[in-house]
Amino acid sequence: MIHWDERYSVGLQKIDEQHEMFFGLINRLEELTKLNDFREELPRLLNEIVEYASLHFKTEEAIMKKVNYDDFESHHTQHEKIKKDIYLECKRVVEKDTTAMDVMWLYNYMMNWIKHHILEVDMLYIEALKTYEN
Ligand SMILES: [Fe+2]
Repeated sequence: MIHWDERYSVGLQKIDEQHEMFFGLINRLEELTKLNDFREELPRLLNEIVEYASLHFKTEEAIMKKVNYDDFESHHTQHEKIKKDIYLECKRVVEKDTTAMDVMWLYNYMMNWIKHHILEVDMLYIEALKTYEN
């Protein structure tokens, strides 16, 4: 399980809440593997994850634009790449005779990605974000 804590805070509640929500979705992947009929729910959850990622990136990018974040392009490029990667990995897992191990693999993949992204990439915009007003 991955838990949100202050370490992951970027100083803006709206984004922190979305990150926490995303952690929750990723954790559901791990919970799913404990169910016998996880294959039934898997496509819906993966769909939700793909859509939530997209919504979250949109929110983040709108805020970055508003504060004229100077590294916007590079951050945007990383979002586009991971959006594509997540979609392809989910598609790959769902299109085969999925095992619990495949789902665990996906869980680890996404967990590692989001940890890295928040701590290494999102953290770069926190100074710029301080000028953001709702
Ligand atoms: Fe980001």
